[in-house]
Formats: sequence, structure tokens, C-alpha cells
Amino acid sequence: MLVARSSAAVGSELLERLAAARIRTDELFDLVRSDALYDRPIPERHRIIFYLGHLEAFDWNLLRERLVHGKALHPELDQLFAFGIDPVGGGLPADQPADWPSLKEVRHYTGHIRQTLDAALEGVLDSASASMPRSGEFPASVLLNVAIEHRLMHAETLTYMLHRLPLERKLRKAPRLELVAQPVEARMIEIPAGSATLGLSRNNLTFGWDNEYEQCAVALPAFLIDQHKVTNRQYLQFMVAGGYEDQIFWSEADWAWKTQHNITHPAFWSQSGDQWFYLTMFDLVPLPLDWPAYVSHAEASAYARWAGKSLPSEAHWHRAAYGSPEDSERPYPWGSEAPSLRHGNFDFQRWDPAPAVGGPEGRSAFGVADLLGNGWEWTSSLFEPFPGFEPFPFYPGYSANFFDGKHYVLKGGSARTATCMLRRSFRNWFQPHYQHVYSGFRCVSR
Ligand SMILES: [Fe+2]
Repeated sequence: MLVARSSAAVGSELLERLAAARIRTDELFDLVRSDALYDRPIPERHRIIFYLGHLEAFDWNLLRERLVHGKALHPELDQLFAFGIDPVGGGLPADQPADWPSLKEVRHYTGHIRQTLDAALEGVLDSASASMPRSGEFPASVLLNVAIEHRLMHAETLTYMLHRLPLERKLRKAPRLELVAQPVEARMIEIPAGSATLGLSRNNLTFGWDNEYEQCAVALPAFLIDQHKVTNRQYLQFMVAGGYEDQIFWSEADWAWKTQHNITHPAFWSQSGDQWFYLTMFDLVPLPLDWPAYVSHAEASAYARWAGKSLPSEAHWHRAAYGSPEDSERPYPWGSEAPSLRHGNFDFQRWDPAPAVGGPEGRSAFGVADLLGNGWEWTSSLFEPFPGFEPFPFYPGYSANFFDGKHYVLKGGSARTATCMLRRSFRNWFQPHYQHVYSGFRCVSR
């Protein structure tokens, strides 16, 4: 609740959260060898150096005129580092390392921007109410939350990118994983007919992105849902059964993508002889059979068809996660207690997944396990606006650019998702052929 507390308390909490988010992103760049900062680990994305500049440029471009009333200091770099790339359509960027400013120049830019912004923010948030509207209709607290969550989202997506950086191009920041077998007993849970609440009411003072509004209710008939995410063990059965070779399990577009790119297994997997291996953030390990299978939407959909099931809609997922036999709904699957480490694998406690069995303390009222953290979950729902959607005027393309029928909603969160984005209304989205997301899935049947 943002306005129930003094503005000074709100302001200082926001600045603390911004500082903590910066630590998260700074430590990511610290694990890249300095001679690898101009690498492009994912062909469809920018080089790593872009993101070093982007995080400060975003904050500065967002807050300079709207909140701190500063002068433009490096307008060319503000523009160069303004926007990332969403890889729809297959066109690959062709820029060369020499097209980018030197590391010294980028570091000077980011240091100068951060210092200038911090000095100005302290004044703004100390002297005025953080929760009062500024820049027209939006409180300073909304703008600061946008900056904080934007950075924390990049803390996750940058990790996807650095996951693809060859192991010898990064510095190990975690001990070798000890893999523990914890087989999942695959079962489905019956969810009775009922209503699922999606989105966020504008009367709720919690921060939400534009696509989280307005709140709406969806009535659902009874359905069955997997208690756990589909594991690597289950996914391997689909592969051994010839799932990648039989077009019947794939939509036309997904089959064309799979064929064109010669996709024969999940992007985190590799094969040597008869043995499957899994690329973790810092190691190549024998395939952990009990971990959730991280795959693209296309691969998840093919598995679901093979299993005679389907992916849950966004509303199915909400009902299974937040509904209850009493028909009341919870803020979190386990109840109303704020998320903590015993509820799931999220908030940067691990670099990699944990066994999909999940802990008993994270389960929903219906007993569905491992819902928040340990891998986003694909849904069958296209990313579309809720009725009453209005784009943020200070960031009009954030969601609206992706209401294109080419992106699907994901729910839940991964090991690298910050706690603040585990709120019920948060929606993530990716296009169906992007393989680098920490995203698994579970199936439903009716
Ligand atoms: Fe961004």
C-alpha cells in the first residue's frame, strides 16, 4: 500500500529498492569477462554492451523530465541505449562491436547518469510527497516502481542472455551444483467449476504495469491440472516417442519453425552419445530428470498434444493457483503471507531450477505445487489487453506493442524473478519460438 505511509518512508523505501536492483544488475555484468562485453550471446538480441548502457539510459529517459527536471547530458547515448529488440520475424541485427562506444565511454556515461540521478532523486523524494501526482497524473512512486521493475526484469532476461555466453567467457559466481534426485509422482488435480479473477483494480494501491489493468473475472467449468510442472523425465519420454518427428503434434507455424531451425531438443539440452546433458548457468551436467522442462511455447504445446492434454489458459492457471474450495481467492497460492524462500525457488536464491516437486509450503489451496518460481509457465492465452486497458503515457509501447497475436502469456516466475513481480496480477509474455526463457509448463484436461 503506497499512500498509507508517510511520503518520506515511501521515498526512502523506493530509493533502497532501486539501489538493491542496481546491485542485481551490476553483479551480472561482473560475471562477464571484460573481453566478452561486446559479445552477442543470443543472435536476435543486442550485444551485452547495449544492456550496460540501457539500464541507466532507461531510468534517465524516464525520470529526467518527468521527475528530476534535469538537463540532457549525453543525448546521443540516451537515444542509442533507449530500446532493446524483440526477436519476432527472424531478422537478425548486423551491427559490429566497433559500431558501439568504447567500454570507457559507456562506463563514464552510466556513472555520470547514476550520480546525477541519485543526487536529484534524493532532493525530489525528500522534499515532496512521493505518492502525490507529478508529471500530470502519475505519482513519483509509480515512475520509480517502473524504473525498479524494469531493471529487475532485465536482471532476469540478462541472465537468459548470459546463460548462452560460453562458459569460458564468464566468471563462475556459484559453487558446483549438487544434483539431488527427487522424483515427481505425476498426477492431476481436479479443480471445481468457479471464477478466476485476473488483473488489478485501479482502486488497489499496489503498483501494476499498464497491462495488469483492469480487473476482470472469468467463469470456468471444472478441469484437471498437473500438480507439478512437466519434468525433464516426462519430456524425454515425448522425445523418445518421436515427438519431434511427428507433425501431428505441432501447429503448422511451429512445425515450420522447428524444421527451418532444425530444432530436435530443448535449447538447454545437448547430447553426447546416448547421454543427455543440461547446460546450467555455470556447468554442463547430466540431465536433471526431476527439474522442470524449460522449453518454448511451441515445444510445450507439442508435448501437451502428445499427452492428450492442452496448455492451461491464463484463467485456468489463476483458478488453480489462487482459487480455493471455498471460492474465495488468495493473493498468493499459499495464502496472504508475503513470499519468502520457503514458498518457492525465486528471488535470486539459485541460478538454476530445483526439482519440480516443490515444497509443501508453496502449494495452492487445491494442492497444486511449485506455482511461483522455479520456471515461468506457458499458457495457451495470447497476450491481449484486459477490458479497460490504458497504455502508460510515459511508456506507451511497453505492452501495446506486443498485443499483436504473436505473444503468449506466462505466469509464475523463475529462480531469477524478483519477489515484487510475484504479485497475482503480474503477466509476462514471449513469442512462441523463443527458447531462452526460463519457462516450463503444466497441462490441463477437461
Ligand atoms: Fe529495457
